[in-house]
Amino acid sequence: MVTFLGVLTSLLCSIVLLALFKFLYKFWWVPMHITRVMSSQGIRGPPYSFIYGNMKEISNMIEQSTSFPMDISHCIFPRVQPHFDSWLHIYGKNILYWQGPQPVLAVTEPELLKQLMSVREISTTGTQGVGPIFNKIFGGGLIFSQGEKWAKQRKLATHAFNGERLKNIVPTMVESVDMMLKRWKDAGTKEKDVHEEFRTMTSEAISKVVFGSNYEEGKQIFQKQGALIRLAAKQLSKIRLPGFGMIFKDKEDVETDKLLAGIQGIITKMIRNRENMIVSEDDNSTTDYLGILLNARHNVNDNYRLSTQDIIDECRTFYIAGHGTISLLLSWATFLLGMHTEWQEKAREEVQEVFGNQNPSSEGLARLKIMSMIINETLRLYPPAISIGRKVQKETHVGDLVLPPNLNLEIPLLPFHQDRTVWGEDAHLFKPERYSEGVANAVNSNPGAFLPFGYGPRICVGSNFGINEAKITLSMILQHYKFTLSPNYVHAPVQHLTLRPKSGVQIMFQAL
Ligand code: HEM
Repeated sequence: MVTFLGVLTSLLCSIVLLALFKFLYKFWWVPMHITRVMSSQGIRGPPYSFIYGNMKEISNMIEQSTSFPMDISHCIFPRVQPHFDSWLHIYGKNILYWQGPQPVLAVTEPELLKQLMSVREISTTGTQGVGPIFNKIFGGGLIFSQGEKWAKQRKLATHAFNGERLKNIVPTMVESVDMMLKRWKDAGTKEKDVHEEFRTMTSEAISKVVFGSNYEEGKQIFQKQGALIRLAAKQLSKIRLPGFGMIFKDKEDVETDKLLAGIQGIITKMIRNRENMIVSEDDNSTTDYLGILLNARHNVNDNYRLSTQDIIDECRTFYIAGHGTISLLLSWATFLLGMHTEWQEKAREEVQEVFGNQNPSSEGLARLKIMSMIINETLRLYPPAISIGRKVQKETHVGDLVLPPNLNLEIPLLPFHQDRTVWGEDAHLFKPERYSEGVANAVNSNPGAFLPFGYGPRICVGSNFGINEAKITLSMILQHYKFTLSPNYVHAPVQHLTLRPKSGVQIMFQAL
């Protein structure tokens, strides 16, 4: 008996010791080791705090900088990413910081970025491992997938948005903008929060593109997905003890699980109903993404076959990636054109020249040069996806640096987009004329100076889709209205996963 108790006690002690060892290894030894490795190579950053890393500090700094609106200026970096702004001055251009026990190298030095861009292993690695919240939102979709699975998903997505299919999508986009303009006309009000309007409109458009004739059901999914993103953004600023989420669920966790189960249920039912309607994968008439994914699911020759869960994840990914970003681009572009009415006039003249009073056509979109310049300048000053992420999978040499495995990389875009050495002393001003000779000329052979859609093999797969939708929407608004920024507008950009106007974008419209 005594022997048995003795064995049991020593077994329990061993388990507790092992757990303690693992805990200390993860939360103390690894951070100390990585800090030493990086500082020996000249990379410094704010000191690691046990368990929480720098999350409390970041959260406090952002709370402070965004607690009040700012004057209307496009120097928004110190407000939206105050931690980077402050650390850059203390530790230099490349900073090691800690999201809990996860090391992150934030890169703002153009030379290091250039070198990173040429390392293939890093440029093909997504931001997997960014935490349970992102995983819940994006699931196993394209944004975070890796290797063979990523290659297959990427091929499908590229196929879904090839030139011919994009052309077919234009009338769907026009229809969604038309519905929005009809609502505006019926409501008759002069002032609008265009951010809200664009969210509804882009959500309708992406619903149709992803789910085709099932778009009403698609809308239900998207409402749930929108609620999920809002919950996730709230949870991001919460600091929790490790393992807490697995044992205890708070109100928001329960709500999140309910929303996820709801989305899963609707898409599963939709897939079941559609299974009998499959046509060939190469058939360009299958314009909705769900149809393309379902066709691929039946392609037995492929190494990687899509499961029902893959399809669900992919549909959700496209909603998040393909609607929030465009509505933000549109909101910031309208804000800028509401301030700079001389550019609004130039854009309107161009739209009249290309389309007259007709609806935009895919052929005409390519001829909108001034509009392209305005969109680029908006993406430079207010990039919707404000940071790009990468992960170092195995030890990698980049220039003089040796990056350890499991290091996350974060590339905040604003320091590059507003770098005075590239863009000039007026880098913080809205000047679309910078692009009169094209983007390559504007960035003066610095490929890293303008990255609103990322770079390398993981560059945004929907950039042409996004630009087309922005051009169509702005063209149709310009055909019907003159507009200015409302005196009620409050300038309050914030990073809420993406770069958002915290208090909306109030615009005064005057029908033409
Ligand atoms: C103004 C609009 C948009 C902006 C600013 C934007 C920006 C970005 C950025 C910065 C990335 C990360 C690239 C990298 O890591 O190098 C990305 C990836 C991605 N975007 Fe977009 N995006 C936009 C529109 C869209 C649209 C309309 C779709 C789909 C319909 C889309 C789907 C995706 C997907 C699936 C990825 C992941 C690609 C991969 O990992 O292979 N995006 N986007």
